[in-house]
Amino acid sequence: MRKQVIAGNWKMNKTHREAEDFIQTAKNEVPSADQVESVVCAPFPFLQKLVEETEGTNLEIGAQNMHFEESGAFTGEVSPVMLKELGVKYVVLGHSERREIFKETDEDVNKKVHAAFKHGLTPIICVGESLEQREADQTMDHVESQVKKALEGLTNEQCAQTIIAYEPIWAIGTGRTATAEQANEVCTHIREVVSNFVNADAADAVRIQYGGSVKPANVDELLSQSDIDGALVGGASLEADSFLKLVEAGK
Ligand code: G3P
Repeated sequence: MRKQVIAGNWKMNKTHREAEDFIQTAKNEVPSADQVESVVCAPFPFLQKLVEETEGTNLEIGAQNMHFEESGAFTGEVSPVMLKELGVKYVVLGHSERREIFKETDEDVNKKVHAAFKHGLTPIICVGESLEQREADQTMDHVESQVKKALEGLTNEQCAQTIIAYEPIWAIGTGRTATAEQANEVCTHIREVVSNFVNADAADAVRIQYGGSVKPANVDELLSQSDIDGALVGGASLEADSFLKLVEAGK
């Protein structure tokens, strides 16, 4: 039985004060970590404080990106070593906004995934097709290619610990959610792709989230699907009340 993982991706939102208020409200209200993994992926400047404030609670903190190098002349970047030192547990990698706006390649994502494991961070790897690709019937091929490239060179054990977030780009921030069947169809395909290069146990263990306009009103149906093991949530994760409803649904 895979445990659901519900992760909020705040993107570039909130003031320091708003972030603190959220955490104070949510940190003691999330369900036990035995029932569901509850994660908030916050902007870099808030991470240290949020990790300190959630220590000993069931709420974990993640980052939204990192560089794959450990240190060096990379102005403006943050390394996996720095995140680990702060006590961050998860890191979102290859989000479509990073791929599109910041031109991250599949190769970059693969290097980041390896760097995450090297430093004991759990990667949440984002994949997903554009509207044009969906309309051209290229969804499965595109997602397959992204998954294969992101996971290249990982061991069975590492794959088993990986979280993959299927986020169709056309459903992100648009209010237009993939139907539960559409989402599950792709998530099932992702698990099949993974099973082609790791053993059956690892393919069974990998957790696959759906992301794209998830909200309290649609989360139950999405999470009830056979191959959906959680959600990566943008807009609906910004308010503590709504986030708490989402993690409750993951129990
Ligand atoms: O990473 C989460 C995301 O891209 C989905 O955003 O606002 O559609 O839930 P949203």
